[in-house]
Amino acid sequence: SEYETITVERAGDRVALITLNRPKALNALNLRAMREITGAAGELGQDPDVGAIVLTGSAKAFAAGADIKEMQPQSFSDVYAADWFAGWDALSRVRVPLIAAVSGYALGGGCELAMMCDVLIAADNAKFGQPEITLGVIPGMGGSQRLTRAIGKAKAMDLCLTGRMIDAAEAERSGLVSRIVPAESLLDDALAVAAKIASMSRPAAMMVKEAVNQAFESGLADGLRFERRLFHGTFATQDQKEGMAAFTEKREPKFLHS
Ligand code: HXC
Repeated sequence: SEYETITVERAGDRVALITLNRPKALNALNLRAMREITGAAGELGQDPDVGAIVLTGSAKAFAAGADIKEMQPQSFSDVYAADWFAGWDALSRVRVPLIAAVSGYALGGGCELAMMCDVLIAADNAKFGQPEITLGVIPGMGGSQRLTRAIGKAKAMDLCLTGRMIDAAEAERSGLVSRIVPAESLLDDALAVAAKIASMSRPAAMMVKEAVNQAFESGLADGLRFERRLFHGTFATQDQKEGMAAFTEKREPKFLHS
């Protein structure tokens, strides 16, 4: 395959699976991984036959962070001029839902990568943290922003300032993940969630993603107006006609994803 750091496959109807594949480095995210993950997810997101994408790692590590060995020799001028990590923004531009299936460590850039996904599912052995401060740096792939919005200022300060890890139960309590599942069934459970999402109207799922992200990114008044306009837009889709007709006729909808 053209990929060195990931594998990409179809995993059932309308679902794609990206698996991080640098086991010897606990899936540390080097620049090549950034290019491959954003490139693969970008291509899959453009495919009308893909309704959801699952991103996962290994049993031991979703990803143990940005690649410390690659970062270690860089100077300020190097990382500033290359705008180190800005390339990850491309993942936020993928418009179909991304599901992070996290087993083991999701630390630093690994936690930040999970937070770039739309649905976070944790195995019961998952561990999250932003240990950058222990290396003398700070989160650089959105951790201080997304973690604060996800779990609030008090917890985000605690995690980013102490570098401590939280387990799956604390992550769920804090609102970082939406569900905890047994480690043995993590991938199956995540693929089932993805299949469920992918069975829905594709434009409706894309609009949900866009609307919820708008709530994350803007004030309430702007967000409500943005949501209302997208809601009006659903009436231009065939799937709205079909979905509402099916309800009225007491049958299952047959979505055309358009
Ligand atoms: C490069 C890494 C790595 C990383 C692990 N490895 N994490 N390599 N970058 N982030 C490598 C180790 O060097 C080791 O390679 C191999 O993976 C196995 O790791 P071990 O440490 O031997 O495993 P273990 O003892 O089980 O400990 C697991 C661990 C620990 C607790 C997750 O690896 C760890 O603390 N990793 C670093 C976590 C971290 O600080 N992440 C944040 C990075 S900064 P060898 O060759 O020795 O076998 C970041 C954002 C920076 O993400 C943004 C600002 C610029």
